[in-house]
Amino acid sequence: MIRIFNSIRLKLTLWYVVTVGILILAFVFALYLSLKVSLEKGVDISLRTFEEELEDALHRSAYRKWKKVVSKESGEEIPINIMYVQILRIVDTGKQPSIFVKSAALKSKTLPISTTAYKTALKNGRSFETVEGFHKHPLRILTSLIKSRWGTPFVLQIGTPLKGIFNALGKFLIILLVSVPILLILSAFGGYFFVKRAFFPVKKIVKTVKRITAENLSHRVEPINSKDEIGELAETFNDMISRLEKSFEHIKQFSSDVSHELKTPLTAIKGEIEVTLRRNRKKDEYKKTLKNLLEDINRLEEIIENLFLLSRMDSENLKFLPKKFALEETLLEAFEDMEAIATKKKVHLILKNIQEMELKGESTLIKRVFTNLINNAIKYTPAGGKIEISLKKEGNFAKFIIKDTGIGIPQEEIPHIFDRFYRVEKARSREAGGSGLGLAIVKWIVEAHKGKIEVKSKAGEGSIFIVSFPF
Ligand SMILES: Nc1ncnc2c1ncn2[C@@H]1O[C@H](COP(=O)(O)OP(=O)(O)OP(=O)(O)O)[C@@H](O)[C@H]1O
Ligand SMILES: [Mg+2]
Repeated sequence: MIRIFNSIRLKLTLWYVVTVGILILAFVFALYLSLKVSLEKGVDISLRTFEEELEDALHRSAYRKWKKVVSKESGEEIPINIMYVQILRIVDTGKQPSIFVKSAALKSKTLPISTTAYKTALKNGRSFETVEGFHKHPLRILTSLIKSRWGTPFVLQIGTPLKGIFNALGKFLIILLVSVPILLILSAFGGYFFVKRAFFPVKKIVKTVKRITAENLSHRVEPINSKDEIGELAETFNDMISRLEKSFEHIKQFSSDVSHELKTPLTAIKGEIEVTLRRNRKKDEYKKTLKNLLEDINRLEEIIENLFLLSRMDSENLKFLPKKFALEETLLEAFEDMEAIATKKKVHLILKNIQEMELKGESTLIKRVFTNLINNAIKYTPAGGKIEISLKKEGNFAKFIIKDTGIGIPQEEIPHIFDRFYRVEKARSREAGGSGLGLAIVKWIVEAHKGKIEVKSKAGEGSIFIVSFPF
């Protein structure tokens, strides 16, 4: 159970309900107002119709009979939709008008009249007003001017209580009070359900993540058939686990390779010492053994040094300050270091085409690239072979090319030669003194300088390594 109040599902649902609630309330308010206006309009129309009928009836009779006409027309016997009628005699402006006739239903009360309504009526206008406090419901009053058969003007007032409207609006409000909360509760449930459905894949991801440990990276989130953010998350997550799995595998493989590589020379050293100690030997024999041992130890030292360099590269501790230096001079230094080895192996090492150029980078690391590649070419080229080295400018690149006539690399092995500890023919290259770290280091240095390395090779014919550094 996820801490429910922290759950994003609950938060989303709450936001959703609040938004829907505000929208519904705004809608209801607008509806209420427009309903009220249209109901009032209906009342005004019925007041107007009644006024016309009454006016007609009054017109047809003398004023002495007006009281009777009023009682008859306003139907006071059956006050369902009662109309209060009051006719005022017009007096001098400024004085309170006096009542001429009023319906019996008014009893001792009189309909109030506002000055504006009175003045409008005098100008032969018609006004509608809502007056509170006269009746238990507000009263809608029409005020207008009528004339008797002989042309005497009177002010006519017809009032009707807004009972119907208030009943209708009241019912409407009750319906709203009941239905809005029900609607909100339903939409909360609906929203929660949909959000829950949408977040179902997230739960699946969480479940998978909980099962994953460094030892068991084989779990994957089941593919989610949606192209939305959650589908993308699941996919990204699976990609990440794949990368992690690969790199864990890599580390495992690497440590087992390291122990193996270190163990081989140690076993050789141990064997040699044991054999030598088996009986008493001559001084020369001891000397020979010690020389062999020194060679093995040198190899061990070299492997450890290379491993140390690689681990610094991995942990990105190996930061260098790029400085401008003469690239051809660095190449010449590497060449001079390797010349003796080539002569000893009777391999022809030649500088073919060397151009002067400046490069920005770490010259000791670049020198390592050159020595490693020249060393490989010598190691994997039999006696009598030839190695040609060139360095030239090509566009925005410094191009170093080393070409040998050695044993070459089978096509299918080429993609692996830059892997750590990878050797094409393990036994043979170990004999040649290789541990398979050289090219891994070369690749790292080249890429750290934003350059690239290419290999062209054919087994039995020789190899070409091309390194390009951008200026
Ligand atoms: N010029 C080449 N000709 C033929 N094979 C090569 C050449 N350069 C590299 N290789 C092959 O690629 C493998 C990897 O080379 P790399 O330099 O990484 O290792 P190494 O030379 O065996 O050992 P190290 O360089 O660590 O002493 C070599 O073992 C060899 O099989
Ligand atoms: Mg090498």
